Amino acid sequence: MFTQNAILSDGRPFADFITLSLRDGANLKADFLSALRQLPKLIATVNKAEPTCQIEWLVAFSDQAWSQLFEQQKPSALVPFTEMKQAERHFPATAGDIFVYVKSERMDLNFRIAKGVADLFEPIAEIIEDTQGYQYLIDRDMIDFVDGTENPVDEKRVNAVLIGDEDPNYQGGSYITLQRYVHNLNKWNDLAVSQQEQVIGRSKADNVEFSGEKKAPFAHINKGKSTDEAGKEIPMYRQNMPYGNAIEHGSVFIGFAKSPEVINISLRKMIFADEQGHYDHLLKYTRAVTGCIFFVPPADFLNTL
Ligand code: HEM
Repeated sequence: MFTQNAILSDGRPFADFITLSLRDGANLKADFLSALRQLPKLIATVNKAEPTCQIEWLVAFSDQAWSQLFEQQKPSALVPFTEMKQAERHFPATAGDIFVYVKSERMDLNFRIAKGVADLFEPIAEIIEDTQGYQYLIDRDMIDFVDGTENPVDEKRVNAVLIGDEDPNYQGGSYITLQRYVHNLNKWNDLAVSQQEQVIGRSKADNVEFSGEKKAPFAHINKGKSTDEAGKEIPMYRQNMPYGNAIEHGSVFIGFAKSPEVINISLRKMIFADEQGHYDHLLKYTRAVTGCIFFVPPADFLNTL
């Protein structure tokens, strides 16, 4: 079983998140296959010219795209992203059929690939989002807290994200939930550090997890965690990345899991107030502007097309 290489690897200094929306077309399937077959060649050409930059990438598909593009059985957990809303909090469901994710040491090379992807798929799809993410203060999110600390590593990461026996046709594949968040950094920076720490549930400077009463019930690390009915954590792998300029900026949330339901559980905990009225207070300072679910096929599935 071969897995597309951007699923399990660590974050890199630069990433590109490219979302395309399918157009109507008489030869949709044939034109799609022709573009898809050229995609590895595009990456190989850039890689060959700059062998030290080690580009990692993946291509993934939405529920609707799967029905339009593939004859093969639909992956068993593939569903569209469902909008969630409560009070002023909103997770919109937005357009997106094909998703290409590229990460490397260099923004310019990611750009060349993003432009190449747009050109390759032009006959059948329109590029609707291209977000260029970058490493921020070494390992911090744009809210200036270390992000990714509790991510699973090694075997635990593999077990958290890769599909196994539950869907034998697609072993080695995975699911992505993708949301772009726009931060209100002025509002966030108006908080005292101790208030920001309460919102996250960890200390800011040395990144230590709070415990006991110090960890607020509305803390992001409580609400963001996916759990089963018995309260046991269900792991996911987050490769979040800051993006943007002084006008608009925030985080791309890109979460990998064996099933999109793992991340849906977290999203519901974050947005919907619990019996005590607690929701994720991080949502007071950031808002999601996109929301999509994609299936990442195993590499050997793509090679057979
Ligand atoms: C604006 C978007 C987000 C930001 C800035 C953000 C930031 C953070 C930070 C700073 C941490 C603490 C360090 C760490 O363990 O990584 C964290 C933890 C975590 N976040 Fe987020 N996050 C965001 C969105 C999300 C979303 C949408 C989810 C789930 C759907 C999520 C799930 C988690 C989980 C599971 C943890 C680890 C909790 C633990 O086990 O301690 N986050 N996040």
